[in-house]
Amino acid sequence: MASRVARVRRSGSDAPTLPRGFEFGVATSAYQIEGAWDVDGRGPSVWDTFSQTLGKVLGDVPGNDGVRHYERMDSDVGLLRWLGVDSYRFSISWSRILPDGVGTLNQRGVDFYRRLLDRLEDAGISPSITLYHWDLPQALEDRGGWRSRDVQFWFAEYAQRAFEQFGRYTPRWATLNEPIANWVGYGLGVFAPGYRDELGGRAAMHNALLAHGQAVRAFRAAGSPGEIGIVVDVWPRSAVQPTPERLRQVREEEADSYEAFLNPLFRGDYSTFQRERWGSQGTLPEIGPDDLALIGEPIDFFGLNVYNRVYIDGAPTEGDDDSTDVVAGNFLDNGHFYDPSVAYEVLMMLKNDYRLSVPIYVTENGSANCNEDVVAGRIHDGDRIAYVRSFLEEISRAVADGVDVRGYSLWSFLDNYEWSSAYSQRYGIIHVDLDSFERVPKDSAYWYREIVRARSLNL
Ligand code: NOJ
Repeated sequence: MASRVARVRRSGSDAPTLPRGFEFGVATSAYQIEGAWDVDGRGPSVWDTFSQTLGKVLGDVPGNDGVRHYERMDSDVGLLRWLGVDSYRFSISWSRILPDGVGTLNQRGVDFYRRLLDRLEDAGISPSITLYHWDLPQALEDRGGWRSRDVQFWFAEYAQRAFEQFGRYTPRWATLNEPIANWVGYGLGVFAPGYRDELGGRAAMHNALLAHGQAVRAFRAAGSPGEIGIVVDVWPRSAVQPTPERLRQVREEEADSYEAFLNPLFRGDYSTFQRERWGSQGTLPEIGPDDLALIGEPIDFFGLNVYNRVYIDGAPTEGDDDSTDVVAGNFLDNGHFYDPSVAYEVLMMLKNDYRLSVPIYVTENGSANCNEDVVAGRIHDGDRIAYVRSFLEEISRAVADGVDVRGYSLWSFLDNYEWSSAYSQRYGIIHVDLDSFERVPKDSAYWYREIVRARSLNL
């Protein structure tokens, strides 16, 4: 089904351009692609436990196989080389290198990432490593997981080991990917580990920020080369019917989601509105005297994941009535209705309201609402091309208006395991056959390859 796009600017010879040196990449995460969940000494993560428990993920299909990247790593790097991307964003499976979360290092796990980094180096592709993309070692969940304030010290140990083992490759390090996942996992029960505990959920969000700060301090203390930052997803909320009640909801949802990270990271504190709101709900986490200084440790870049605008009262209809047809993997998504102007809006907000003084990388953007039919070995996902193009145009508009955006990383390199939606949502520009795990580039991969080569949107 064709996606409906709001307010897309036309491309053409007057289409905005991206700055010289703008970095084009693709992104993945460990649990979503690796598989080999119990191979070579890897310890289980909360996503193994969760997805293997009946009733937790769509169709009870666990993510055990990912898309078998662990065994296909060499040829996958070959595909990255074919795409010609400047960078590759991936995450490390914490329990692959530290099966118990802390303590003994699993050399075979370390060797896997070293081989990957060597292959990338040979291919001239810069690594962008996320330390944590939602797969907490189960051993640490058994000790309280993200609800325990001790997690900051476990994470600092893990980060330090990663800097020691992989620092020589001078990656761009992100501490956390989308820490809101802790709310979804502990507060809403939709992600691993699957609790519905609102106080625990807010504590898990706050503790994630403490862990981030500890990792930044460990990075500076180690004098590790490269850069360190954090990745936050920003989903602006809107109301189709802007009644006072709806606007209040918009404000609350924004305060509870991305502002809960951006405020302590860039404004030095939660807002009064947030503290009062959570206080009145009995969900205000413990905030220690040094916590905010720790969270506010200076970082080198900000990673933005941006996908869509969330209409709290259903996506607007545009001449048809399928606004409730929400099929995207990301449960916040409005399905077929997408609005690329959010990219411009959010980037301007980061510059003007949050006064970010560090470069921004768009670390994720992509769509799962596309044609995925394989016909004679081709996948004609022109709707994905339109989506990505429209976002790149909005990003370049923000650049023209003074936002320091240095790169764009498309989600995703490969079709993969979309968390609670299992394999039902395909975000890749490379199709993966889920029986054979064969890879087939989609039309979007050929198109992106040309964009990267031409370094221009005027194609
Ligand atoms: C957010 C997450 O970082 C990633 O893991 C997920 O697959 C995509 N966005 C799409 O929902």
